[in-house]
Amino acid sequence: MASAATFSLVTQLLCLTLCLLSLGCSAFTTEDYSDALDKSILFFEGQRSGKLPSNQRLNWRGNSGMSDGSSYHVDLVGGYYDAGDNVKFGLPMAFTTTLLAWSVIEFGSSMPNQIENAKAAVRWSTDYLLKAATTTPGTLYVQVADPNMDHSCWERPEDMDTPRNVYKVSTQNPGSDVAAETAAALAAASIVFKDSDPSYSGKLLHTAMEVFDFADKYRGSYSDSLGSVVCPFYCSYSGYQDELLWGASWIHRASKNSSYLSYIKSNGHTLGADDDDYSFSWDDKRAGTKVLLSKSFLETNTEEFQIYKAHSDNYICSLIPGSSSFQAQYTPGGLLYKASESNLQYVTSTTLLLLTYAKYLSSNRVAVTCGSSAVTAETLIAQAKKQVDYILGDNPAKMSYMVGFGKKYPQHVHHRGSSVPSVHEHPGRISCNDGFQYFHSGSPNPNVLVGAIVGGPDNKDNFADDRNNYQQSEPATYINAPFVGALAFFSANTNPK
Ligand SMILES: *[C@@H]1O[C@H](CO)[C@@H](O)[C@H](O)[C@H]1NC(C)=O
Repeated sequence: MASAATFSLVTQLLCLTLCLLSLGCSAFTTEDYSDALDKSILFFEGQRSGKLPSNQRLNWRGNSGMSDGSSYHVDLVGGYYDAGDNVKFGLPMAFTTTLLAWSVIEFGSSMPNQIENAKAAVRWSTDYLLKAATTTPGTLYVQVADPNMDHSCWERPEDMDTPRNVYKVSTQNPGSDVAAETAAALAAASIVFKDSDPSYSGKLLHTAMEVFDFADKYRGSYSDSLGSVVCPFYCSYSGYQDELLWGASWIHRASKNSSYLSYIKSNGHTLGADDDDYSFSWDDKRAGTKVLLSKSFLETNTEEFQIYKAHSDNYICSLIPGSSSFQAQYTPGGLLYKASESNLQYVTSTTLLLLTYAKYLSSNRVAVTCGSSAVTAETLIAQAKKQVDYILGDNPAKMSYMVGFGKKYPQHVHHRGSSVPSVHEHPGRISCNDGFQYFHSGSPNPNVLVGAIVGGPDNKDNFADDRNNYQQSEPATYINAPFVGALAFFSANTNPK
């Protein structure tokens, strides 16, 4: 007994020493990150609209939105529901796609077992976006469903009967924000499919250029053109300038076409190149554009791109406690905190930027200078890891904020399909108002929306696992999309069990 105990102690000390010497101590193993990665991608199957394929794995879902667009004589079947409702909102769908593609572009080589699923998740969206962009010349379809009507019901997508109105932007009613984000999504996805499906990739890139041209020529915000249909849901608060620069940057990255280099050089300053803005989200693309373009600066030394590296450094310094320009807010438990509603979207998008920037820095053997201190790629990775680990369960509440991951996770997710019995369990219709009995029920959701990351805890690390509290308990595609890249990174760069 004594010798066994001694041996165990020695082993523990040895492990601790090894773990201190290597990448740092981890609450999770490489297997845990791989498990979370698989689930983070599986979640997108739960958000699918349209006809589900035979290899659908999240099998409590069924076909839905099968005649979307038909009353307008356009085929808008497919795409994703953004969150816990059944609306197909174009701006967050496109942003989700851009970040999912970016995750694959930077960290696809770290997800050998999941790359096909990740690409399928991108394609589910780009198939839809291609239809939305190419059906009618001079028109981009940007939304299906009247959100106010949809939100007044609690219905499964499989039997929703609320108006599936179709909304578009056009030369007369422009939407440079949603159009340029769509261009970014198509361009980023063209990189994902470049080797495996060159003709699809070519079509994506070609369409990206056309949609970008439309976005740039006919300038205006879709919030002005569509009003209460998109606001306050996904109102373009930051304007459309950030999306124009982001869209041009992605087409530049995908095409290497010098027209976009010239565009960035001549328009960057009027489109946000000089701003320091620290909320990277479906609305505001500025921080992401800085990081994306700093790669070009680091690799090619294009002088006009130096500014993007400088502003990326400012952004990074703002996140690192102890740095001279530190200004981020963290909860007592260490979670980055930006907003009371859907805070984890900012956390996951930030982790993708930290890891991507760390990758660019280390492959060019440079660091960030914050005042008088140097911040290395390793520091960025450690910072990202804290956020990822917090989400997965290393936090004061000792719970995972990813549904279906770990022992304790949210049970009352604000999600219509997940909270109402599935069409397989309960084939009879459950109408608009009849669904509310499930919304108000204290029981856990009957269908586990595996992999969904919810809005997350408040600024004191408190979380209410309550369907009514959509600010904390609602999942969204743009919370998960950047996390796919982060989880791939840690699944390949953490010690095994
Ligand atoms: C580069 O982009 C411009 C603007 O979209 C386009 O007119 C031109 O044909 C492109 N060049 C090539 C080589 O693809």
